[in-house]
Amino acid sequence: MAEPALPPRFSPPPRPLTLLRAFWRMLRGADDMEMVPQTAYEEFLVEQPVLFGPRVFYATGPEETRRLLVENAANYHKSLLTRRILGPGLREGLILAEDEVWRRQRRAIAPLFQPRVFEGYAAAMTRAGTELAEAWARAPGGIVRASEGTARATYDVIMATLFGGGAGFDRQELRKAVDVYLDTAGRLGVLDLAPTPSWLPRPRIRRGARAVAGLRDAFREMTVARRAQRGASATPDLLDRLIAAEDPETGARLDDEAIVDNILTLIVAGHETTALALAWSLHLLATHPEAQERAAAEIREVLGEAPARLADVARLPWLKQVLNEALRLYPTIPAALRTAAGPDRLGDLEIRAGDVFIIPLYAIHRHRRLWENPDAFDPDRFSPERAARIPKGAFLPFGAGPRICVGASFALTEAVLILAEILRRLSFAPLEGVEVRPLTRLSLKPTGGPPLRVAPRAAAGGA
Ligand code: HEM
Repeated sequence: MAEPALPPRFSPPPRPLTLLRAFWRMLRGADDMEMVPQTAYEEFLVEQPVLFGPRVFYATGPEETRRLLVENAANYHKSLLTRRILGPGLREGLILAEDEVWRRQRRAIAPLFQPRVFEGYAAAMTRAGTELAEAWARAPGGIVRASEGTARATYDVIMATLFGGGAGFDRQELRKAVDVYLDTAGRLGVLDLAPTPSWLPRPRIRRGARAVAGLRDAFREMTVARRAQRGASATPDLLDRLIAAEDPETGARLDDEAIVDNILTLIVAGHETTALALAWSLHLLATHPEAQERAAAEIREVLGEAPARLADVARLPWLKQVLNEALRLYPTIPAALRTAAGPDRLGDLEIRAGDVFIIPLYAIHRHRRLWENPDAFDPDRFSPERAARIPKGAFLPFGAGPRICVGASFALTEAVLILAEILRRLSFAPLEGVEVRPLTRLSLKPTGGPPLRVAPRAAAGGA
């Protein structure tokens, strides 16, 4: 029997590009991930030649990423590049803050994302999945753009989680501003890569920052109004919890600006990432009908006619395996970037302050020495028997160490509940003749959405 076609992937250059060729390719619109050389998929530490400025390395080995992200994480700050791209909007929110400011916020915010508080969030997740399935069932011509719909669903979830029922402002207007920000921040420019001063005009990023200024004003007003109510709500939402959150060590609370930074951070970090994980999962299921049928059968058996609840997430192992495999092939944050604050040692390498490390999660997830048949779709890699054999450091869709994604369990719960509600009602097929490719825009997107053909699922116990 013919081998199934491999899911779409990037074509890396065989070796690190010279600076000139990298600039040239970038000017011609090459994808950021196509700068990462094939050697980074085969070796564990690869130097990127540069003519001036700090040294740059690709780190893809388990020991290397462990040193950078876990053991000596305090020595590796978020890179200047990450700051340039996200800083004008997110300021000192959890993603960008460093040292004591980060530690204080992390201690206050992490408890809001513990699975034990999810009960209150799960209903919004199931509702968003149901509404999306119902909207897609009515799609003209039975064709949908996956990530447009999934982004609407995850946006509704994060807004409902943050602001409960009473946002007090037009959510869809705000969504437009969030989209402008993500769109403008998500594209690297040549200026971003070179060690140029950050005051050089970057019109694209400025436009995003203007969109964010409006968002910040709305969230500040909302925070002030909520503080005045002094926790009167019977069912506290995430904003109530952010206002009440205390650093367990010092008892300190977040001030208004820190709350605004973090509302924006949670919207930006939490909605598109999960939406893209859902879109890639649907693309992979559409192109692997047997995996899709197995998912639909599992959902039918576990849920019957009832809506998906928090407790069901643990009872849908195949769906979770599919999601993990989608996040392996397409980690929606495809790279983490770090800059060394001081000297360190990595094997034979003497690290100097200022050295830059690109940790391409995408390449780690397809590393020739860490995975068998790395480019193939095989959710069974994550079956209980085989998952135990996955090398440590080979699967890092949420990063690792103290700065691991604070919303990882939230995202997985949300994605399983939304997928369950969609797949019980609808079946998906790829659109003939449409090529889907990965595209890096800060996050890892499928081109075109991707477009999918949907049909109601007969006897699926829903809709
Ligand atoms: C599938 C969905 C998601 C993926 C793939 C993802 C991935 C990641 C990764 C790789 C990092 C670490 C970046 C680094 O070390 O440089 C991160 C950090 C973070 N994520 Fe997520 N994320 C997802 C969903 C979410 C959600 C739902 C939220 C919140 C509602 C969230 C909030 C954050 C925050 C605040 C950080 C910064 C944490 C810190 O530095 O202390 N993410 N995420």
